Amino acid sequence: MISLSSHLYWNVTIGTIFCCNKVIVLTKGNVLFSKKSTPSSHEWVLTSCQQLLMMTLMKCLLLLTTVLLALVATGHCYYIGVSQYDITGPAAEINMMGYASLDQVTAGIHFRLWCRTFIIANSLSGPRVVLVTLDTQTASQIMKIEVVKKLQVIYGNLYTDDNVLLSGTHTHSGPGGYWQYVLFEFTSLGFVKESLDVIVDGVVESIKIAHNNMKKGSLLTSSGSLTNSSINRSPFAYEQNLDKNDYPTDVDYTMFLLKLVSDKNQPLGSISWFPVHTTSMNNTNDLISGDNKGYASYLMEQHMNNGALPGKGSFVATFPQSHSGDVSPNTAGARCIGTGLPCDYKTSTCSGKDELCIAFGPGVDMVDSTRIIGENQYYFTRTLLGNASNSLSGPVDSRHTYVDMTRLTVNLEDGRLAKTCPPAMGRSFAAGTTDGPGSLDFSQADTGRNIFWDLVRGFISSPTPQQEDCHAPKPILLNTGGVDIPYEWQPSIVPVQIVQVGQLYVLAAPGEFTTMAGRRLINSVKKTLRDNGVTGDIHVVISALANTYINYVATLEEYNVQRYEGASTIYGPHTLSAFIQEFNKLAVALAKGVPVSTGPSPPNYLDEQISLVTPVVLDGVPFLKDFGDIKSNALPKGFCPLSTVFVSFWAGHPRNNFMTGKTFLEVQKKKSNGAWKVLYTDASCETRFRWVRTSVALGQSRVEIEWDIPSNAAKGTYRIKHFGYRKRVNLFGSQIRPYSGVSRKFEVY
Ligand SMILES: *[C@@H]1O[C@H](CO)[C@@H](O)[C@H](O)[C@H]1NC(C)=O
Ligand SMILES: *[C@@H]1O[C@H](CO)[C@@H](O)[C@H](O)[C@H]1NC(C)=O
Ligand SMILES: *[C@@H]1O[C@H](CO)[C@@H](O)[C@H](O)[C@H]1NC(C)=O
Repeated sequence: MISLSSHLYWNVTIGTIFCCNKVIVLTKGNVLFSKKSTPSSHEWVLTSCQQLLMMTLMKCLLLLTTVLLALVATGHCYYIGVSQYDITGPAAEINMMGYASLDQVTAGIHFRLWCRTFIIANSLSGPRVVLVTLDTQTASQIMKIEVVKKLQVIYGNLYTDDNVLLSGTHTHSGPGGYWQYVLFEFTSLGFVKESLDVIVDGVVESIKIAHNNMKKGSLLTSSGSLTNSSINRSPFAYEQNLDKNDYPTDVDYTMFLLKLVSDKNQPLGSISWFPVHTTSMNNTNDLISGDNKGYASYLMEQHMNNGALPGKGSFVATFPQSHSGDVSPNTAGARCIGTGLPCDYKTSTCSGKDELCIAFGPGVDMVDSTRIIGENQYYFTRTLLGNASNSLSGPVDSRHTYVDMTRLTVNLEDGRLAKTCPPAMGRSFAAGTTDGPGSLDFSQADTGRNIFWDLVRGFISSPTPQQEDCHAPKPILLNTGGVDIPYEWQPSIVPVQIVQVGQLYVLAAPGEFTTMAGRRLINSVKKTLRDNGVTGDIHVVISALANTYINYVATLEEYNVQRYEGASTIYGPHTLSAFIQEFNKLAVALAKGVPVSTGPSPPNYLDEQISLVTPVVLDGVPFLKDFGDIKSNALPKGFCPLSTVFVSFWAGHPRNNFMTGKTFLEVQKKKSNGAWKVLYTDASCETRFRWVRTSVALGQSRVEIEWDIPSNAAKGTYRIKHFGYRKRVNLFGSQIRPYSGVSRKFEVY
């Protein structure tokens, strides 16, 4: 290596060649070959002229051939935009969405939540589609309505209900309350504006970024079976299916990968559809977490972005949820707490109690299980990424319609006509599942009568005899379709959407389809496409929890035994048939290139929302302390890899500022020049950020920060910083101001 000033550079240069992102500077007799393409780069390698020219020519030729081959193979170019944006939201004192547990409220961050966006188009002026995966329990109707409204203000009719698909990964460890329907607002004390706003704004920002970075590229696919990360949690229901012998397994092990590559052969992103509940973290967790799918994205992005800080790399990896209604990541299965015996097969109870029957993951605890199930999906995606060779070609298109699901006429396969019903939840809904059992005296597979609950439900709404008949054999616990005080309890107007990218058809399924419900839907849509003239390889995948949440969709046979999934199938026994019928209509329209009707508009209840969530009142610190002061410092003795550093600070409330796109903590390492380099943030899986209320009356709290030192951590001097905002109130109103604190320096050996 020799150093070269730019002055010298210009003096000795007799010629410059730009090739393959490198600058080759020809001098007298020798060649200076720069690693970077900018003339200001100061690192040069001195090589002989012939040697370098040969090397470079070979490399260029090789690259050119690869690119040409890729282009010939695809024969088709897409425009691809990619981005991710922070949607973590309120990290303290907000109920988590998923387990419907009042006690499970946020108290910090394990790792941040993101929305990840891919925009795909044939040309910049032609039709485009937007696939957004959110680290949330689901997408909700009000999210979609507000996102599209905001996009239309910016882009006119470029982004619409039709071509924007929002789907949730189904993590049960994120802040809830982003609803406009009552049922899911019970445990979150009503609507939570903070939760909704951060998601809507995050999605809009991420679409803006992806919109602005669209570039030419190609799309490749691959698929395979990941057999090690999921089990059926309702085998008794699954076994009722008449077509169960058509399939070797009671869960669908297929992972389908879409690989997005730029025309310079730069990997841009990956989308891995795989059905498994994001319930590795159980209902005792209070740290925000993307669960196993968020973990898989984190690992994938770390790997592809060469360790760039989370959210700062260019490669984006998503793991959308698929037909996982009855699919658990808790592969050790359910057993009775105390005795360790198997639970009752049909009802998932132990001595009649559902709360004693709990499923466990493969790890030593829930964090370890999250890691294992996340790693499995990550490693499998890498395998598929390595062998993805089928390329997609053909049009980008989409169809979307709204359907009134409360009174839809359904043509059954045997020619009979049936009807869907206004929504209602069955009694086994309250039993929960073995991933998160209910705490009341309910059991799954309940079709009997219960006087107490019949009485309770009477306060809400007694179902009419027609409603009871319509839902039979479901015993109705909550007749949600019979109340609209203060507004609707569950959706009536439901979106159905298909997004097409070449030979790939993505079905946006609201809610959670069980394994068999998903298989039947996929097979039926495939057949419809073929029957209507679509030839060649057709890939049909389900992006579940999309656009709106309508709980579960079980098959008729599963419905009839009323385990949790059947009891949570809200439009009655023919819910699945109704969805298959409506998806098929869209498939026909796509195949024939004709439009579909938009259907009835869903309501927007945003202005009527009731919220009982209390705002942050004020923050305080103990006498003679300030915000950011150390409460408990890092131990001075230093640390070995695989140990954990603990520090805590006097702190403000995390809801004063969500630190969106920023962080509440940094693990920093001292560089040789004395400056500090940030190695981890609160978005890293290696750190934990916990908020602890120490005095309600005085508004005092502390934060605790933990860093698990990885086995390969570099030796050196480290420190941990905390950033926050505190709220003070005086005569003139309230002020929210930033503060920070820092731990002592410590060594890692
Ligand atoms: C890619 O790898 C998966 C998983 O090992 C395998 O199932 C699949 O057949 C492979 N596909 C190709 C085209 O090699
Ligand atoms: C399956 O996962 C377990 C951990 O859960 C692991 O020990 C085992 O090696 C895995 N098996 C395969 C075939 O991947
Ligand atoms: C949740 O996981 C922890 C281990 O991390 C375990 O001790 C606890 O029993 C589990 N609780 C439930 C309700 O699953």
